[in-house]
Amino acid sequence: MSQTTENTLATPVGITLERYIMRKQSEFAFATGELSQLLRDIALAGKIVNRDVNRAGLSRITGAMGEKNVQGEHQQKLDVEANIRFVRALTNGGEACAVLSEEDEEIIQTGNVNGKYVVAIDPLDGSSNIDVNVSIGTIFSIYRRVSRIGGPARKEDFLQGGRAQIAAGYVLYGSSTMLVYTTGHGVAGFTYENSLGEFFLSHPDIRIPRQGPVFSCNEGNWFDYPEFVRAFLTTCKERRLTARYVGSLVADYHRNLFTGGIYLYPPTAAQPGGKLRLLYECYPLAYLIEQAGGVAVTGADLVLDVPPTADLHQRAPLFVGSADLVEELRCKATN
Ligand code: AHG
Ligand code: MN
Ligand code: MN
Repeated sequence: MSQTTENTLATPVGITLERYIMRKQSEFAFATGELSQLLRDIALAGKIVNRDVNRAGLSRITGAMGEKNVQGEHQQKLDVEANIRFVRALTNGGEACAVLSEEDEEIIQTGNVNGKYVVAIDPLDGSSNIDVNVSIGTIFSIYRRVSRIGGPARKEDFLQGGRAQIAAGYVLYGSSTMLVYTTGHGVAGFTYENSLGEFFLSHPDIRIPRQGPVFSCNEGNWFDYPEFVRAFLTTCKERRLTARYVGSLVADYHRNLFTGGIYLYPPTAAQPGGKLRLLYECYPLAYLIEQAGGVAVTGADLVLDVPPTADLHQRAPLFVGSADLVEELRCKATN
């Protein structure tokens, strides 16, 4: 049988995430099996959360918990559920000695004292969109620990700075579910095949266009925005750029990654230091955008060069996306 006949009769399903990780393992500086296991754990939790998100309207898992998280924000049931799923998967996988989650004030020690990695995570991003059936996501960031192997993880493991990340990515629960990640050698995207229960490589080398037609921000905050942000947005409108804002960072970021554009979460009166969290929102998405040829700044500074303070849940302004657009904004921030 010729290859063409064979492919017509049975269209190839492509490369699974698992096989892709194995193929790429020579690019990874550390023990490859360990990273594979971590990514596998994240993918597994992503599949489970995907299932729960899809059923959310049916399984009475939408709605508020009636409690606030460490950020003082109202937790949704899915925030809590996703947190449990990811922490459990990383605990059972054995490679992560600790997890820092948006939903928990303190570091979670997994008990894997010999694990060499720590994972910072926003288990459910875009929680205000859960109840209205709009795309949401998960963001993750991985470091090699600096604390002693065999003992508990320490805060310092999470406070190494953005450039110390060894892998980062996100899961988007959208019209299809995708896992997009980097280990510092470009960005690859995988689409979830529901019936097979696997992520397949769908976007082998994602590059963000240098320019783009989209600006994404919550314009309701316009009167709080610093002058340089308003000046930049005014030029976007003069050039008739398109406004697109889902209100789930992962979804807005993912769209702009493909179309080109800029996402902005500037400081506001309510959040003078910015709203988004440095360790599990800004750093991972900044690392990934640089790997895709884009730029991420907090204003004048590159996000990855901003040193963390001692606060694990610190916030930062975020401007991220196409290189030319972000540099244009950065110029305005500097002048
Ligand atoms: P989270 O749901 O993890 O708390 O994150 C919400 C974030 C982010 O996803 C989104 O871009 C932003 O908050 C939206 O904020 P506004 O509603 O203030 O625009
Ligand atoms: Mn978030
Ligand atoms: Mn969240």
